[in-house]
Amino acid sequence: MTITPPALSVFESLESEVRSYCRGWPAVFDRAQGARLTDEDGHSYLDFFAGAGSLNYGHNNPVLKRALIDYIERDGITHGLDMATTAKRAFLETFQNVILRPRDLPYKVMFPGPTGTNAVEAALKLARKVKGRESIVSFTNAFHGMSLGSLAVTGNAFKRAGAGIPLVHGTPMPFDNYLDGRVPDFLWFERLLEDQGSGLNKPAAVIVETVQGEGGINVARAEWLRALADLCRRRDMLLIVDDIQMGCGRTGAFFSFEEAGIVPDIVTVSKSISGYGLPLSLCLFKGELDVWEPGEHNGTFRGNNPAFVTATAALEAYWADGQMEKHTLARGEQVEQALLALCTEHGRLGASYRGRGLVWGLEFADPARASEVCARAFELGLLLETSGPQSEVVKLLPPLTITPEELDEGLRTLARAVAATV
Ligand SMILES: Cc1ncc(COP(=O)(O)O)c(C=O)c1O
Repeated sequence: MTITPPALSVFESLESEVRSYCRGWPAVFDRAQGARLTDEDGHSYLDFFAGAGSLNYGHNNPVLKRALIDYIERDGITHGLDMATTAKRAFLETFQNVILRPRDLPYKVMFPGPTGTNAVEAALKLARKVKGRESIVSFTNAFHGMSLGSLAVTGNAFKRAGAGIPLVHGTPMPFDNYLDGRVPDFLWFERLLEDQGSGLNKPAAVIVETVQGEGGINVARAEWLRALADLCRRRDMLLIVDDIQMGCGRTGAFFSFEEAGIVPDIVTVSKSISGYGLPLSLCLFKGELDVWEPGEHNGTFRGNNPAFVTATAALEAYWADGQMEKHTLARGEQVEQALLALCTEHGRLGASYRGRGLVWGLEFADPARASEVCARAFELGLLLETSGPQSEVVKLLPPLTITPEELDEGLRTLARAVAATV
């Protein structure tokens, strides 16, 4: 029998069984700053989770906090549907000047509801409207959100089963390296597209993550992404890159697809765009795709003004001078070195690693070991989550602003956690 400490009892008695993260981290968190959280008993935890990628600039980032406090204190607009506000104007202008224009990206900006899945639903709906077709192609182990449209293009069987109705109009194809490099890229996909007897309805769009975050830190090669973009162009399908978890600098560049040199037709952005953990989503698309009628895709919480304020401050502070990418790649190399050493030391565990920028995955021959490592890491004061269809991958997702010393501390704690499972 598990005995619930009194501090956790209301969560157990009142909050739904659906809760998940709090089960792996049985503490009541109270404060957070940068890469550290503190629980109500004063225990400190180093954060290698960063709000599932929503806190790329750390908790309560002082630059963003100052901008937010000033805005609230001067009674800036908090809720405004999609009305024009000074906060929204500042965000749009900064996003254009700091992100879109220097990268020569031809996007218009749509604000759907505030969460990532809202942006995915908007992207799918727009692609279907533009092409007049219902079918969407997604990839094995993809994760795009929990609402029905997003679930239909998500791979995970457990999450799909929760829908309770058939999930239709989505067809999965093998992600990069799904077939262990034994089959030429897109052989199956191309064959289905050209064969009138294949049973595949002509797709409106293909939706892809450049690195599958929830699916197990599966990294698509740049040449695979380029071949996918080329396939979409040749076959008249729109290319949607879901950059909700891997965008906002997680892989180095602001957009994760920049390294491949492709320009997707539609891009979804959320998680770290506000920079402060405040909900905000964007659906970006090429100007010629802007076929929406006014109000055709609506919602009460589109355009979260306090989130515009912190998003603008984040873009100005971290992206205007081009330094962020270099910092992230340097920290990424630090992680890679540590994982190499760890896997070499624990060769008997069949450990391997993969990643890009500052998102890394560590896998063991025994899938259950990943959860054990995360449990030991929590006891040692490090927050780490698993990913992958069997939770078989330890996922490292620290804030991009973490210092080299903090990163080193977390990596050493990870090594101790692994050793504790041997
Ligand atoms: C790639 C990707 N798309 C969509 C989502 C859904 O975002 P949200 O949980 O904010 O709805 C996530 C969340 O993890 C994600 O990683």
